[in-house]
Amino acid sequence: MSVVSIEAPRTYEAWYMSSCSVIKSYMSRRSVTPVITLTVKTTGLKKREVENLGHYEFMAYIGVPYFRWGGMDTTDKLASLCGVEKGKRVLLVGCGTGYSAFHLAKNYECEVVGVDISNFLITVAQEKVEEMGLGGLVSFEVGDAHDLQFDDGSFGVVLTESVVIFLDKERALLEFARVLRPGGFLGISEIYQADDAPEEVSNRIEEAARMLSENVGVEVTVPTPRQWIGHMSDAGLQSIQTEKQEIGLTSGDWAEVVGRAGVARVSLKAMYYLLRSKKIRGRLQRDKRVREMFMEDETTKKFFGPLLCVGTKPG
Ligand SMILES: C[S@@+](CC[C@H](N)C(=O)[O-])C[C@H]1O[C@@H](n2cnc3c(N)ncnc32)[C@H](O)[C@@H]1O
Repeated sequence: MSVVSIEAPRTYEAWYMSSCSVIKSYMSRRSVTPVITLTVKTTGLKKREVENLGHYEFMAYIGVPYFRWGGMDTTDKLASLCGVEKGKRVLLVGCGTGYSAFHLAKNYECEVVGVDISNFLITVAQEKVEEMGLGGLVSFEVGDAHDLQFDDGSFGVVLTESVVIFLDKERALLEFARVLRPGGFLGISEIYQADDAPEEVSNRIEEAARMLSENVGVEVTVPTPRQWIGHMSDAGLQSIQTEKQEIGLTSGDWAEVVGRAGVARVSLKAMYYLLRSKKIRGRLQRDKRVREMFMEDETTKKFFGPLLCVGTKPG
């Protein structure tokens, strides 16, 4: 018998995992197009259904609360750079299961609208709204970052965490700028590679990005800070500032927010699917390899890391 050595992914609180199977219906868009009613089952899926989930959907399914480079400290830093405060209307693009949306509403008393392209993730997020007691402040809807269903100037702040590397940056940033009101802030929390990264490091970053692409099904590129600033500037934003983050401090340590029971629960679920599904095993092994290549290689770490980039729409 061959023994496969596998390590469960680092895990977090399974705070949104419901205890029973829930079927939710919701409207995907608020526009003039006919209302599309979708049914998404977020718990108790069969093995084949679990295999068909996207990478981040699977992570949510096993109980991972957020999927990004920075932890909540990074979210707070971004919020502070963008002047998030009571009364502000904030759009969170690519909100996943809504962990940051709840955090922002709870801690800053701002109104948050979360948008994500995944029906599954939005349904999980919506299931938590009432439970969190934030019904008046937080709402979620399915939507594409490249084609947001909001009027021009609808938001005082647009935030996005670990999403733009998956997007057509030019189109998406123009769209973010469109829905911002004049004087509003766009804040993105992403990753960068240094302008002066040696070829060997650039190749490693490219290889890690390729593996990430394989997991998420879209092309991933890692811009330099100068390129990030260029993308913001091309979208018409001004007073652009970037802030590099320490990789060790902002690695999004899920365990911190979930506690031991959450870690154990998610690890067990991950282990179950690692053993039962070759497809999921391949994905999680690639995920682990990407993290090692990006975060643990001492040379790469000197030329790579999380980055906050903030700009304002001219008033
Ligand atoms: C790395 S996850 C980050 C999720 C969340 N921001 C967080 O911090 O946990 C990337 C997210 O972007 C979403 N996404 C990818 N492409 C998108 C698009 N075109 N429009 C909206 N969301 C998108 C994915 O569904 C996923 O939830």
